[in-house]
Amino acid sequence: MKTLSLEVLHLPVALTSVLTIYNKVLEKIKGLTDITSCPSQRLIQHIHENVRETLSKMTLHKDLQESEGEIIANVVYSMVINPEPLILQAFPAKAGWPFPVYKGGCGRTVVEDFVGRTLAEYEDAPWPVRANLARQLIEMAQILTENSLDFALYLTDVNTNNFAVNADQKVVLVDAENIIIVDRLQVRKEKPHGWSKPYTNDVIGCLDCLSFSPEDLCAHDLADHNYYAICAGILAPDAYYSSRNGFLHGIPPHIDLQTNLSHLVKECAHPTSQFNRFLIVPRTFTQTNKPT
Ligand SMILES: Nc1ncnc2c1ncn2[C@@H]1O[C@H](COP(=O)(O)OP(=O)(O)O)[C@@H](O)[C@H]1O
Ligand SMILES: [Mg+2]
Repeated sequence: MKTLSLEVLHLPVALTSVLTIYNKVLEKIKGLTDITSCPSQRLIQHIHENVRETLSKMTLHKDLQESEGEIIANVVYSMVINPEPLILQAFPAKAGWPFPVYKGGCGRTVVEDFVGRTLAEYEDAPWPVRANLARQLIEMAQILTENSLDFALYLTDVNTNNFAVNADQKVVLVDAENIIIVDRLQVRKEKPHGWSKPYTNDVIGCLDCLSFSPEDLCAHDLADHNYYAICAGILAPDAYYSSRNGFLHGIPPHIDLQTNLSHLVKECAHPTSQFNRFLIVPRTFTQTNKPT
């Protein structure tokens, strides 16, 4: 069996060698966790630089050149054991990403800001409160898929306990461990078969759980996975993770009449024909929150 020598991690490392080390390690750990599903040089560099930035703010790490190897060890360890701290650092809350603020970590322990009560505790909240939270979930699905970094972040563990609501009624994803990250620039460059056709999750795997194929997500520039996961997992009447008839139960009749929301939420979860989640879902939810 081949093994990788990590002795090099104690030495100062140039950027090209850093990437070479990562490439070799990623070959071995590909697919072990969601974050290693679609390895990309740009993604690993983005993560590495953000982890380095966090360390540079800590007084203990003055000589960053010396600690390059330590960063690599830290990134690789987290990728395999728990990628959450990497995601919180690479997609920081201060840049507008919907994750808690990362405070630090050591080994398996991650310290992050406490956000507030989870979405599960809002299932019986009044309609306007739930409508506002549901709209934010849809906006989150959109921004995680299409953003200026061209990394699509697909959520693979969607349930009402993994989102929390802060004091400003903002929804935050508090469990950022299970996310497949697709480098859209890499997909456009490598052009795998069918890459440019938006990929639709037609829910063939299972009805009472999240079904998806990492290979298909990794091979497409764009996928409607996040809309599907939010609708089928949380919002729709038969949502697999709702203790009521979906988080959006009890839609007021006048709103349903104007927006056809109850029908659209069902279609979003389980499309009957060529229902375009990209076009229809965000538009519907923006309308839902208009003052009446
Ligand atoms: N930053 C946070 N703010 C508020 N609550 C949190 C936060 N992180 C975790 N929680 C709470 O702790 C629970 C377990 O954390 P989570 O990261 O989801 O662990 P697990 O990986 O075991 O599902 C969450 O469901 C949520 O209730
Ligand atoms: Mg969780």
